[in-house]
Amino acid sequence: MVVKNTNQLEEATDSTYDREAEVKAFDDSKVGVNGLVESGVTKIPRMFHTGKLEITENSGSDSKLSVPIVDLKNIHANPALRVEVVDQIRCACHEWGFFQVINHGISVTVLNEMIDGIRMFHEQDADVRKEFYTRDLQKKVMYYSNGTLFSGQAANWRDTFGFRVAPDPFKPEELPPICRDIVIEYLQKITDLGFTIFELLSEALGLDPSYLKELNCAEGLYIQGHYYPPCPEPELTMGATKHTDAGFMTLVLQDQLGGLQILHEDKWVNVPPVHGALVVNMGDLLQLITNDRFVSVYHRVLSQNIGPRISVASFFVNSPDSIKGASKVYGPIKELLSEENPPIYKDITIKDFFAHFFAKGLDGNSSLEPFKL
Ligand code: OGA
Ligand code: NI
Repeated sequence: MVVKNTNQLEEATDSTYDREAEVKAFDDSKVGVNGLVESGVTKIPRMFHTGKLEITENSGSDSKLSVPIVDLKNIHANPALRVEVVDQIRCACHEWGFFQVINHGISVTVLNEMIDGIRMFHEQDADVRKEFYTRDLQKKVMYYSNGTLFSGQAANWRDTFGFRVAPDPFKPEELPPICRDIVIEYLQKITDLGFTIFELLSEALGLDPSYLKELNCAEGLYIQGHYYPPCPEPELTMGATKHTDAGFMTLVLQDQLGGLQILHEDKWVNVPPVHGALVVNMGDLLQLITNDRFVSVYHRVLSQNIGPRISVASFFVNSPDSIKGASKVYGPIKELLSEENPPIYKDITIKDFFAHFFAKGLDGNSSLEPFKL
């Protein structure tokens, strides 16, 4: 039977389709979406089909609007400039939840080499990359396709190579030689930049520069190297479904292909690739502790018939796996509350938050809803 239509109603009434078997066979292949592309598929398997509505919703992109770009040049040496930058960041985090940084201190060479390293990992021989394929969340180095593959939601046209950097890092020899050196260099640089951004965010909240770091917001770091293969039917599926990031803050390195969009004032706005820039976005936990001063904004990645597109997302989050991290309680920062600004959220533990986050999957709803007062 030829499936021509992605209408969800039609799919729901087709009783011959065994989604579970299709998903299982895909996962058992251990070579991800890129394995499908390597085998020459011209039609994408049905497990990737999204309802048409999801793709076209709010797609009237508004070209007048653009995610702010913040120039970090000289902020360590020039206090007046730093004040200006902190103002720009405060505004961006409140209005957009996203901004891009340039002159952040990580060289274009390192950025390009990291993108290449991730690309080369995903383009290794199937037999080599299979060895890394796993769904075991205890592993510190993981290659997989779709974190929530078995949830019943449409799968995304992307594969991921992820590694836990902090607080309990992988061993260098756990990384494949093809990208080992550059990954180690990149994670050191991105950790430092993360600390700098947390200082600027603290200042933007009118707090001591070390405030967010002392709250352990930068204690955990998890990096995902995404690979979005070219898609033969990009109108039927997404590179990444609409979602917010769970942690405190994410730093995204994207290549020059584009496709990342954020939902701003009910419209999908492109986050255009800017040479040498990194994308910074706020996560749900930062929205919670800032009592909505900073917002965690929906974003998604379109699939395209060109590619591959490569991106590297570095998630800063207190680790839900460490005993210390899991039991730590987070609520709206007291210094930000007043009679006019009463707390919006309850105090919660990282463990409770992630239990809800993972149970929910990428369903397009805010993970903060159940924690509202
Ligand atoms: C993510 C994400 C964006 C991108 O990994 O959470 O939103 O450009 N990635 O890959
Ligand atoms: Ni994201």
